[in-house]
Amino acid sequence: MADLSLRNIRKAYGGLEVLHGIDLEIKSGEFIVFVGPSGCGKSTLLRSIAGLETITSGDLVIDGERINAVAPSKRGISMVFQSYALYPHMTVYDNMAFGLRIAGTPKAEIDRRVRHSAEILQLGNYLQRQPKALSGGQRQRVAIGRAIVRNPRIFLFDEPLSNLDAALRVATRIEIAKLKQSMPQVTMIYVTHDQVEAMTLADRIVVFKDGFVEQVGTPTDLYRKPANLFVAQFIGSPAMNILKGTVVDEAGATARCKLDCGGVLELATEPGRLSRGETISVGIRPENTRLGDATGADPTFAGTIDLVEHLGEVQILYLDLPGASEKFLVKVDGESSFARMQTLRFSARRQDIHIFDAAGKAVCVPVK
Ligand SMILES: Nc1ncnc2c1ncn2[C@@H]1O[C@H](COP(=O)(O)OP(=O)(O)OP(=O)(O)O)[C@@H](O)[C@H]1O
Ligand SMILES: [Mg+2]
Repeated sequence: MADLSLRNIRKAYGGLEVLHGIDLEIKSGEFIVFVGPSGCGKSTLLRSIAGLETITSGDLVIDGERINAVAPSKRGISMVFQSYALYPHMTVYDNMAFGLRIAGTPKAEIDRRVRHSAEILQLGNYLQRQPKALSGGQRQRVAIGRAIVRNPRIFLFDEPLSNLDAALRVATRIEIAKLKQSMPQVTMIYVTHDQVEAMTLADRIVVFKDGFVEQVGTPTDLYRKPANLFVAQFIGSPAMNILKGTVVDEAGATARCKLDCGGVLELATEPGRLSRGETISVGIRPENTRLGDATGADPTFAGTIDLVEHLGEVQILYLDLPGASEKFLVKVDGESSFARMQTLRFSARRQDIHIFDAAGKAVCVPVK
């Protein structure tokens, strides 16, 4: 059981601040995933929680106790890194037992804990092997086992699967999902660049950019209701398409927006939320498009196919839309056939269209 509060955490290296006042409340037993572009501060924050970095200011609080000055080994936190750094000359059993032996844990207790974690991680048959006789995925499981035997209150993972090949990643991701089920009381924070890992493992995802938190929410929340353009384009793969438009009329509860690619969108606004002349961004996910003209009042778009990407089950069509500098991606079934230079008409349901104001903030108004 461990609630973790991060209160106004700042971290600077030399004169350069890389975490700018992070506030986050994590509940006992939650599985939290950190995502964000390279260099945004994910590892720094994780290492600060573990005590491997000293924070410049702010408070780290576990179950009501301020732990800023508590030694890393006394925080009840285990961390698993991208590189598993096992002792090459020791067996799997000894690698897992090592930390407990150093801490003076009784032999019988060590044996019980090592065998228990080996069972959770399906390493029972490998206990007497040395790391060199294991696959990458098995080695990473030993590194996780080494963390489990310490009975942590909080488990930190920094991109634990990024050194594994695609198939092994999937298998080990499933192991981690099972690990979460078998340790429901342990709070976990997991850093990844992998969208599928983030979406499938997280209770809540924290999106970072440049040392700030952009949004915190369940995977579904972030996918359906991104708070700003950055999150909208960061969550989801391929990324959300963005079309530009200009507010040409704003009266009462309606704003009319002219799109650069042609056509007009009518938005139901709160008066004053958008102003005349303001540039807006209109977001549509590749998977939220439908071929052919809209029925009813949904908007219809048209573009020219520049590239067809076959992915087996689906195809991604890269379209040039008039007035758009970026390609517009449309996800379609894997069977129909499309040709380069073909004109494609497609529509999007009004409820699947995201609107962002000139500052990139989501405007929570429906398209009329
Ligand atoms: N020891 C250090 N000294 C100086 N600057 C550092 C140090 N460690 C990290 N930084 C800087 O702090 C920023 C955040 O780095 P961090 O490793 O936390 O990013 P990250 O989000 O984990 O990136 P990645 O996804 O590539 O692992 C970066 O600009 C990095 O260059
Ligand atoms: Mg990192």
